[in-house]
Amino acid sequence: MQQQTDAVKADALRMKEAAGRAAVDALVRSGMKLGLGTGSTAVHAIRRVGELMSRGILKDISAFATSFQAEIECENGGIPFYPLNSREMSAGLDLTIDGADEVDPQNYLIKGGGGALLIEKLAAYASASYAITVDESKLVAHLGMGFPVPVEVVPEARVQAGKALEKLGAAVALREALRKAGPVITEHGNIILDIRFASPPDPAALETDLNRIPGVVENGYFTRIRPVVYIARSNGTIEVRN
Ligand code: 5RP
Repeated sequence: MQQQTDAVKADALRMKEAAGRAAVDALVRSGMKLGLGTGSTAVHAIRRVGELMSRGILKDISAFATSFQAEIECENGGIPFYPLNSREMSAGLDLTIDGADEVDPQNYLIKGGGGALLIEKLAAYASASYAITVDESKLVAHLGMGFPVPVEVVPEARVQAGKALEKLGAAVALREALRKAGPVITEHGNIILDIRFASPPDPAALETDLNRIPGVVENGYFTRIRPVVYIARSNGTIEVRN
């Protein structure tokens, strides 16, 4: 049983790595300004960029890291990274590569499983092109039926925003930290309310409507930029879906 579980984990890891590397190899060119995403799939894209830079295949890359995790990966890989407001980045990004929690048939996404949705969305919407790297387990018919939609909320709005989300028909759960008592606190000092609907809502409408609730900073629906999706299949192939 344990051996089976280990094999499944190893397969998942292989697929994540394959998706990350495939997107970098196909899309990243010297001189690009890159947005670099967060999570256990996006790290493989960051590592591949670092590897190609160290071999002299990619030159003059500069990056915007979407989280502490991405910053550390950039540091480890020797990838120079800058704030989005900096002179280096202020003209916008050429390409952002990230992971996702769910991808629907229109390539709409749920993101934020790693709590970095706010800055991930900034990078995505500041990019000329956007690539998502996933293993096939992330493909769904309807968003939000398996993975909840994260909503980042200022701490002062925990109760009122929670009530407003319930009025929209959502079941609301405060995201709890794993190795700390109490809630997850995002890199911007906010909390995350994970919401679920009983039947599939309209993700494009909700992306706008959720942000109208006072105290909501951002939500995990990504529908206004259509990514190219690199899907690692369990048979070892990579499918590219536009
Ligand atoms: C972090 C994210 C991640 O991209 C998403 O959670 C997917 O992560 P993983 O590749 O580890 O499954 O949105 O906020």
